[in-house]
Amino acid sequence: MKEFIISLGGSMVNPGQINTEFIDKFVNTLKKLQHDRIGIVVGGGVTARNYVNAMKNYTGNNFFLDEIGIRATRMNAMLLIASMGIQQETVPENVTDGLSHMNKNGIVIMGGTVPGHTTDTVSMLLAESAGIKNVINVTSVDAVYSDDPKKNKEAIKYDQLTYEGAFKISLASYSGAGSNQFMDSVSLLIGRRAGISIHVISGNNFDNIERCLTDKKYEGTIIKND
Ligand code: UTP
Repeated sequence: MKEFIISLGGSMVNPGQINTEFIDKFVNTLKKLQHDRIGIVVGGGVTARNYVNAMKNYTGNNFFLDEIGIRATRMNAMLLIASMGIQQETVPENVTDGLSHMNKNGIVIMGGTVPGHTTDTVSMLLAESAGIKNVINVTSVDAVYSDDPKKNKEAIKYDQLTYEGAFKISLASYSGAGSNQFMDSVSLLIGRRAGISIHVISGNNFDNIERCLTDKKYEGTIIKND
C-alpha cells in the first residue's frame, strides 16, 4: 500500500503501563516501508479508561467524559510523534488540520477530535477526507469476533465481514464513553459510505503488520462493502 491510515489501539501503547517495546517495534516496522501518505490515529488506552472511570464518580455527562478521553489520546499521539522522530510540532485537533499535515509532510500522527465517537472514527474521516481506501486497525485482538474472545470461548472469528455484519457486532457492545467495542458504529458508517476497506489485525505480530501493509496475505479480518 502506498497510502493508508492506521487506527492504533491505545491498549497497544498503554495496556497498563506505557509499552515502549511495542512503540519501538511499531516504529521500526513503519520505517521499513516506502509510502506516499501515512496517517496514524492513536487511542487513549488504559490512561483514557482510568480517567473516564474516575470522572464517572463525579458526572454522568458523556460529553465531558469523552473530553477527558480525548486528552489521553493526544498524550499518546505526542509520544508517538517523538518516537517516530518526525517534524510535527503539534497534535492536530481536527481532521482537516490532520489532512493538511499529511498532505504537506507525507505523514501525520494525531488522536481524538470531538466527543461522540472514538479514534476509529477519526481514522475513517481522515481516510475519507484524503481519498485513502485502506484503514488498518491495529489492536490487541487478532481479528474481529462475534463476542469478546477473552470472555467467551465460543466466540466466532471472522476472516471477512460486510459492513452490515460489523455494525451488529459493534452495536451489541456499546456502553457510552470508554466503551470496549472493536470499532464504534459511526466509524463503520463512514467506512461504508466512503468505500473503505478496514483491516483489523493484531498489534503483537509485526511480520503480519508488514505483510498487510505490503499487500501480502495476512491474518486478521477485512471489512468491506459487498
Ligand atoms: P479511544 O479511541 O482510545 O477509544 O478513545 P477506545 O474505544 O477506548 O479504543 P482503544 O481502547 O484505544 O482501542 C478513548 C475515549 O475518548 C473519547 C471516547 O470516550 C473514547 O472512548 N474520544 C476519543 C472521543 O470522544 N472523541 C474522539 O475523537 C476520540
